[in-house]
Amino acid sequence: MISDEVLVQLLADGHFHSGEKLAMELNVSRTAVWKKLKKLLTLGLVVDSVKGKGYRLSQPVELLSKDRIKHHLSEGSCAAINNLILLPIVDSTNSYLLNETKTQRVLSKATICLAEYQSAGRGRRGRQWVSPYGSNLYLSIDWQFDSGVAALEGLSLAVGVGVARALSSLNLPDITLKWPNDILLNSRKLGGVLIEVVGDHAGPCRAIVGVGVNVGMPDQTLDIDQPWIDLKSVCEGVSRNELAAALINQLTEVLVSFESKGLKPYIKEWRQLDAFKDRLVNVTSGNSVVTGICCGIADNGALVVDVDGVKRNMHGGELSLRLNNES
Ligand code: BTN
Repeated sequence: MISDEVLVQLLADGHFHSGEKLAMELNVSRTAVWKKLKKLLTLGLVVDSVKGKGYRLSQPVELLSKDRIKHHLSEGSCAAINNLILLPIVDSTNSYLLNETKTQRVLSKATICLAEYQSAGRGRRGRQWVSPYGSNLYLSIDWQFDSGVAALEGLSLAVGVGVARALSSLNLPDITLKWPNDILLNSRKLGGVLIEVVGDHAGPCRAIVGVGVNVGMPDQTLDIDQPWIDLKSVCEGVSRNELAAALINQLTEVLVSFESKGLKPYIKEWRQLDAFKDRLVNVTSGNSVVTGICCGIADNGALVVDVDGVKRNMHGGELSLRLNNES
């Protein structure tokens, strides 16, 4: 069987490769190559086929490499991470770590999982996270907290600040944050954070911190139900491996400090990055919609909305925040 990964590796340079040469390199028939090329389409890769030239990926792909990521890791994150797992294909990096945690196979303090492709990537509120192969970053960190679940309030806000710091450490464009977990660039969604917690309310627990960042979506129509953007459309030559390392560096720092200091050290920075401050917003919970002026976040990370002159603190994973003029 030809591994999907080997074929993508051969095509990663974005140059044309003849079917004959690919067949030779993979030691299979040309028909088998053709079938595999068709499968790449289902993974979200776009393959150009030109008679007389062969096949190429419509855009070159920088595959993730443990060595390249490790090369850019800080001393602090190397010390904090026990395990770095790189998977070509997975349902969801969050689900993978959740399963490992439940089956007690992961017992270390911190495990990181990255994947090239997610067949069932998950966003907040049951949404799908579109995760084409080799295009973006899909990263989850399984982190053991000695405190109980209650102490994790506001963690997704601190993680958002960590993502902003990671992008800025690579001189990438400035992003803004939308409560509670959206990473925005030019008012469109660049990424998101999904945190899932397993464990006791009072005793030790584990947080699976999932982060998705759009680096370079394939040039094809994607079924995404909100305005989105990728880094490729605003700057050239973003290295996925360097970005993965920068995210790991910043997020491990955030997780270490959150354990002892909580959200406090991140509040000021979050407020500076707040995309919706002073805007008229709708906050939806199930069928009920509340409209008011967004006043930013409270010290515990709750969203503060001024509704008819009364400030209301709102929190909860199921809330959805939108600008009032958005459909
Ligand atoms: C959101 O904005 O709704 C959150 C998106 C989180 C996506 C990431 S990608 C890595 C990890 N695995 C998942 O299935 N989801 C998160």
